[in-house]
Amino acid sequence: MSEMYTKHATKYAEAVKNNIYNAMLERPSTLALLDCVKGKNVIDIGCGPGAYAEWFLQQSVKSLVCTDLSEEMVALVNNRFGDQMRAYTQDISLGLPLESDESADVIVCPLVLHYVEDLVPVFEAVFRVLKRGGYMVFSTHHPFADFECSPSGNYFSREQIEEEWNTVGVPVKVHFYRRSLTEICSAVTSAGLVISHISEGNVEESAKAISESTYNHLKNNPNFIFLRCEKAHS
Ligand SMILES: C[S@@+](CC[C@H](N)C(=O)[O-])C[C@H]1O[C@@H](n2cnc3c(N)ncnc32)[C@H](O)[C@@H]1O
Repeated sequence: MSEMYTKHATKYAEAVKNNIYNAMLERPSTLALLDCVKGKNVIDIGCGPGAYAEWFLQQSVKSLVCTDLSEEMVALVNNRFGDQMRAYTQDISLGLPLESDESADVIVCPLVLHYVEDLVPVFEAVFRVLKRGGYMVFSTHHPFADFECSPSGNYFSREQIEEEWNTVGVPVKVHFYRRSLTEICSAVTSAGLVISHISEGNVEESAKAISESTYNHLKNNPNFIFLRCEKAHS
């Protein structure tokens, strides 16, 4: 796992609070795919430092479970909200073994799946844990955006990419998987979930005040993709 989410977890938490990519593009675009969550049992997979946890608790969910591969991220969420939710370390590529069948109304997984090589076990676990009539919303890197850094030039092959990101003020190495839209959608539907919405996100106009060039770039180029997937009633 990248040091971005371990050694630099606290700085990461600070960096994504009010930045363009997370606060003005990713979070509003993910939240736009959710119905009212008041009174719902929610699971936040790859919860990071808890930006979503904070929002879910403000919405008066019935229960909230936060999981993340990073012990540092889980500690951050526990420090902030430990008395209001349950958080624990879990590698989502191994599923959600601590969660009961058909126990969650809503599962979110924002900006996590590009770190997972095989998506099939993730969606199988989500299908098992969702109640009938429940749904999952996730965001991930947009396949077209990531294709720009494909070493092979073959859009349809899954490839691990290494980059250095400056999110926390110093360059930090990050590895992630780029893959086709077909691969993402097949993993969802082969698990039994039905895709009900696909969005390519919408950057908020307030981003202009921080960086007009980044705002213009995100208005013209897809960066993330957002899917809502349903577990049918029967
Ligand atoms: C870009 S951050 C997103 C955090 C949070 N979802 C948000 O949007 O604010 C990615 C998170 O995914 C977590 N992560 C990476 N690989 C994971 C895995 N295999 N299982 C669970 N979490 C993982 C990282 O530790 C990190 O907290």
